[in-house]
Amino acid sequence: MKHLFAEIPSEYKIKSLLHQKTYLVNGELKNWSGTTTDVLSTISSTKKYSPTLLGTIPQLGKEEALETLDAAVSAYDKGQGLWPTMKVADRISCMEKFVTQMKTKREEVVKLLMWEIGKSLPDSQKEFDRTVEYIYDTIEDYKKMDRDSAKFEKNSGVHAHIRRGPLGVVLCLGPYNYPLNETFALLIPAIIMGNTTIFKPAKNGVLLISPLLEAFQNSFPAGVVNIIYGRGRTLATPIMESGKIDVLALIGNSKSANAIQENHPRKNRLRLILGLEAKNPAIVLEDADLDLTINECIAGATSFNGQRCTALKIIYVHENIVEEFNKRFSKRIDALKFGNPWEDGVKLTPLPEPGKPAYIQELIDDATEKGAKIINKKGGETTENYIFPAVLYPVSKNMRVFEEEQFGPVTPILSFKDINEPLDDMAESNYGQQVSVFGSDVKTLSPLIDTLVNLVCRVNLNSAAQRGPDVYPFTGRKDSAVATLSVHDALRSFSIRTFVASKDNEYNNAILKELLDKKTSNFISTDYIL
Ligand code: G3H
Repeated sequence: MKHLFAEIPSEYKIKSLLHQKTYLVNGELKNWSGTTTDVLSTISSTKKYSPTLLGTIPQLGKEEALETLDAAVSAYDKGQGLWPTMKVADRISCMEKFVTQMKTKREEVVKLLMWEIGKSLPDSQKEFDRTVEYIYDTIEDYKKMDRDSAKFEKNSGVHAHIRRGPLGVVLCLGPYNYPLNETFALLIPAIIMGNTTIFKPAKNGVLLISPLLEAFQNSFPAGVVNIIYGRGRTLATPIMESGKIDVLALIGNSKSANAIQENHPRKNRLRLILGLEAKNPAIVLEDADLDLTINECIAGATSFNGQRCTALKIIYVHENIVEEFNKRFSKRIDALKFGNPWEDGVKLTPLPEPGKPAYIQELIDDATEKGAKIINKKGGETTENYIFPAVLYPVSKNMRVFEEEQFGPVTPILSFKDINEPLDDMAESNYGQQVSVFGSDVKTLSPLIDTLVNLVCRVNLNSAAQRGPDVYPFTGRKDSAVATLSVHDALRSFSIRTFVASKDNEYNNAILKELLDKKTSNFISTDYIL
């Protein structure tokens, strides 16, 4: 396969470089004159293949990491800070101000999403729009939460005014595959609940945050959102070692999550909100509708080149239909169009990690050495920035592609005779996010569903695995997640129930009444946000 070169449409050409020269600390976009790192796209702008330089970012060090930590700690100010004590309605106004400005940056962010991570134009637009919608939904859900807690309870002679309060200082790290959406799915609920934050953008998908820096700066009080650039380990290590972080919010890999949390000296202080890797299987039963199943398996395995934690990463097909499934599935894979993100109808796009094609090739070599075959014609064809999805069959447990989360374009297929084969594998696996089951006989499906819900956290019936709609719980068992994210759940994950209790007597009741009448406390309030 040759490097494809087609003239880049003028609106998507890189006409000037984006040099990010500042970082956001304590409400200031502070200039950085130290070392910088080049941001390169694996997409070529020239006929002869060569990565494209997009710009540079600061390579901050320990000193700047601790400077942003101080800013976030001071903004929280032992719970006395402006932000954690602010009225909910006022925090919501700040968030509304932010999202209004964010919407004006759609074009710039979408263009950078395509160049930085190779996401197709429609998917990049979807990522942006979905994130804006997520912010509005979060605001609405928070209003509802606030309305529901605008009341007193009385039990056994004790009045209680219960709300959800912030946890403190949050370190937020997002993944490269959804550098906007997944990061904001952590950052937005963390901020709105009254926490203060330090956010480091992902390694790939970093410049796309630049157009939003001013909106962060002018929408929230100083120190509430701090944004740093550089190597994850260099920056996260001193921040965690300080023991001052209350929440580690990370979407990424379990190994890095473990390494980062290890640095925290006070394990019980640290709350974890983690979305980690997965090896979501598809199980294709004998009576599955093959047209529908193949459509869903193609989408599940190949959307964004399989670089989704929710992607279908292994397919189990009943032995009686495996031949037919393989024939039709591989033909459909070969028909997928590869090209640059802005090309019409493109389904497969350049991989943002330069080492990814070689890694996928290693998985293919390992599998073929151990007896699997590449069953599609184009499988494994390579260019400088891509490797065409290989469909591997028959895959067995001793192959790396059976165990490892490939996070890229290769699909392993196994056949099964007894449903306990995939069930046992799932029970043994370190992961437990989702599964897709294809079939129609309810007698077979019922016990299967009843078991699968206890092995993973979402069973997709005749549908590909996915995170959305974002109102649904997104979580996993074992090494796949800690805590639950969704519009509704994230507000809870980033907060804790806290309350004011007072014995029911005249003395206390008079004070409570005065607190309510004079509206001097932002916590003790029965005001209703419409
Ligand atoms: O990388 C994991 C993402 O949460 C997947 O989200 O299923 O909407 O693509 P998605």
